[in-house]
Amino acid sequence: MKPVLAAAIACALLAAGCEREMHNMYEQPRFDPDEGSTLWPDGRADRPPPAGSVPAATGDIAGTSSARQGRQEIQEWREAKAAQSPPPVTQALLQRGQDRYSIYCLPCHSPLGDGEGPVARHGFPNPPTYHQPRLRDAPDRYLFDVITGGHGVMYGYGDRVAPLDRWAIVAYIRALQLSQAVPVAELPPALRDKVAAGGPR
Ligand code: HEC
Repeated sequence: MKPVLAAAIACALLAAGCEREMHNMYEQPRFDPDEGSTLWPDGRADRPPPAGSVPAATGDIAGTSSARQGRQEIQEWREAKAAQSPPPVTQALLQRGQDRYSIYCLPCHSPLGDGEGPVARHGFPNPPTYHQPRLRDAPDRYLFDVITGGHGVMYGYGDRVAPLDRWAIVAYIRALQLSQAVPVAELPPALRDKVAAGGPR
């Protein structure tokens, strides 16, 4: 046998051995989900997730992709949940609302919410003021839906402002409305005194 041929055969045999070794790695002993095991007192091979765990991914293919797939579903699920019910109003939520309002709404609706923002001053149709009875009495959900889907010539922000941020903006609009319509008797004493003395200077 020529040396070259002998070397080629040796290589082929080695490669086959390699493949067998790799195969053994694929088929290591392991447990499938929900398989039993004597390792733990509860007889299960997989460990129950700690209380309060939040899934990183879900859906039919999440389990076959080390959770790389299925994250979108989780995000959609979170957003749908946030869209269903408003979060509790906190100082942090109001601050977030002010921040988002300043970016997305203020250019047309103005810092005060009276519809006299810079964009409107340059020719875009004037938005209605938030300080009118119809919008003051409108439910939070109505304002949320206007942000999501738009209203008349105003386009929607559903694709840019996440549901939780939409609720934050709604809370901030409520604060703006209150700022222009709070009964003097409901002000904290220090502010009441200021109003009695002729308003803030
Ligand atoms: C490009 C300008 C513009 C921006 C930005 C804008 N709006 Fe408007 N908005 C308008 C105009 C114009 C109207 C009146 C639309 C109509 O009646 O045709 C309006 C109407 C509204 C109304 C009243 C709906 C009703 O029932 O009359 C609300 C509430 C509102 N906008 C909230 C928001 C919020 C919150 C944001 C920020 C997320 C926002 N808008 C961003 C222009 C804008």
